[in-house]
Amino acid sequence: MYLLIPAAGSGRRMGSNRNKLLLEVRSRPIIAWTLLAAQASRYISWIGIISQPIDWQEFQEIIADLQLSKPVELIKGGSTRQESVYNGLQALPATAEQVLIHDGARCLATPNLLDRCAEAIHNSPGLIAAVPVKDTIKVVDENGIIQSTPDRRQLWAAQTPQGFDVKLLKQCHAEGIRQAWEVTDDAALFEKCGYQVRIVEGEETNLKVTTPQDLAIAEFILRTRLGEE
Ligand code: CTP
Ligand code: MG
Repeated sequence: MYLLIPAAGSGRRMGSNRNKLLLEVRSRPIIAWTLLAAQASRYISWIGIISQPIDWQEFQEIIADLQLSKPVELIKGGSTRQESVYNGLQALPATAEQVLIHDGARCLATPNLLDRCAEAIHNSPGLIAAVPVKDTIKVVDENGIIQSTPDRRQLWAAQTPQGFDVKLLKQCHAEGIRQAWEVTDDAALFEKCGYQVRIVEGEETNLKVTTPQDLAIAEFILRTRLGEE
């Protein structure tokens, strides 16, 4: 299975002056934890890290340090996540029929989750990891007035990995460019093109490290997972 890791963001909400994926949790850069999960996955055999050239030297050093046995390629990122994934899809080897896309910022996803997604893609040309939402979600207008309260039983919080048939996803990205769709995940493009996207049960701990609070939570989860005090 081919894995693309979007890692070309700037980490604005982290308030850091560099790519948040280079910040450390438990003494390793965030991206290193993501790569370790990919390395431990049974099915992933190729890894493409979509990233900004300014970070390439540091990423190369991290990759070398981890002594990964799987091939890793660096692919130039774009100015939005959508553009970054588009570049990643173009850079996939011609043999890639299916792909998993997993945000570098979701550094706590387990190898088991990656593998469950890799298995599920054989029965569904589009899938995403997701968890049921715990909060009651409100739809609110620009004046701060609630417009509606959707039934929570139908609401799922989208995560990555997201898995797709490569040919179809490329087609959806091309359509997205034609129609100037702006989306925050690849499933949204697949949905807009009328293709089915299936849910794979995600993980509560698979958070996207976005703010400084998330860094502290990730630190805690890893410490617990690694059996440290
Ligand atoms: N990403 C990317 N290319 C971009 C923007 C984001 O590959 N132009 C990646 C990020 O590196 C991250 C994932 O997409 O792994 C999810 O994005 P997000 O959590 O929003 O990260 P940032 O865009 O870096 O953070 P922020 O939105 O706070 O600036
Ligand atoms: Mg972002």
